[in-house]
Amino acid sequence: MSRPPIARISGLGVAVPDRVVTNHDFEKTLETSDQWIVERTGIKERRWSDPDMTLAELSRRAAVIALEQAGIGPMDLGAIILATATQDRLLPSTACDLQALLGAKNAAAYDLSAACSGWLFGLTQAEGLIASGQAEHVLVVGAELLSRIIDPSDRTTAILFGDGAGATVISKATGETGLLSTFIRSDGTLAELLWRPSGGARHPISQKIVDEKSHYIRMAGREVFKSAVLTMAEACDEALKRAGVTGDQIDLLVPHQANIRIIQATADHAGIPMEKVMVNVDKYGNTSSASIPLALAQAVAEGKVKKGSLLLLVAFGAGFTWGSTVVRW
Ligand code: ACO
Repeated sequence: MSRPPIARISGLGVAVPDRVVTNHDFEKTLETSDQWIVERTGIKERRWSDPDMTLAELSRRAAVIALEQAGIGPMDLGAIILATATQDRLLPSTACDLQALLGAKNAAAYDLSAACSGWLFGLTQAEGLIASGQAEHVLVVGAELLSRIIDPSDRTTAILFGDGAGATVISKATGETGLLSTFIRSDGTLAELLWRPSGGARHPISQKIVDEKSHYIRMAGREVFKSAVLTMAEACDEALKRAGVTGDQIDLLVPHQANIRIIQATADHAGIPMEKVMVNVDKYGNTSSASIPLALAQAVAEGKVKKGSLLLLVAFGAGFTWGSTVVRW
């Protein structure tokens, strides 16, 4: 059922490392090829950070742009939600580091763990904080340094992931523009299809774990692929239904950028032609929680999103988690 928007995206900023890693770079170290990677994933290159980059710093760079665009200062933020699977350290949160870097002294800051759906989960929480009157402006960041958690010798995962940060300021809606619907879901029974088995409290880091490489990301690609297609289809249906609109009314679909074939299947299900779908997986690979803000920012810069545009954003990630939103820009 449609309802007036509670919250809107008032600022959007992104930051990516300068270093470009191409498929040809992987040909030197792995048994793979540019042709295989492009055909199976659509990825041509991705950004990987140098070792001195931190997640907090990359997030700060994106946040400064988002705050400026929103026309507010760090002290106006009631909360900072940093969605990530690659915190700088396990305790305390990287969101607190980001708060300190920004000087956002009035904000509650915390990390959110929902993998590739994290930014959408954060958006939904921001809407709730605004609805309950606890915040007028919430900084929702999706940021990852995935290059730090992949096994460089595993061709099935190393080629997929990239680093990046996308920051959004979510503010109280004042008119017709904003989030027309939000939807989030999870299924924890499928956790071990995409996971980092060790390094947490259950299997604390040890020499054995490092030798086994079980602190790196592991994925059952084909199973993940199938679930992604099914759940992103469900998420599209839910967001559209809740907003009271249909796929043919959508001006631009901005899906999580994991794999071009998943994106095509999602668009097909929602009845949205590919010319109305934002794709930049070729440039950045899978940046998990940063992927939708990165794609959205590029769409805005390219003039694909204009004032009044109707957008459908949809994500799927480890957990499994999935979510969606319809936004009147
Ligand atoms: N280069 C060459 N060959 C490879 C590579 C590679 N980089 N990776 C795998 N292969 C081989 C496999 O070893 C396998 O060989 P075999 O037949 O001899 O055993 C063959 O290619 C086929 O492997 P599959 O895994 O079945 O290939 P598939 O077509 O499923 O593509 C891929 C793999 C790209 C990972 C795909 O399954 C996929 O995109 N899955 C979804 C991934 C995803 O979306 N993850 C993220 C969602 S959640 C999140 O973002 C955190």
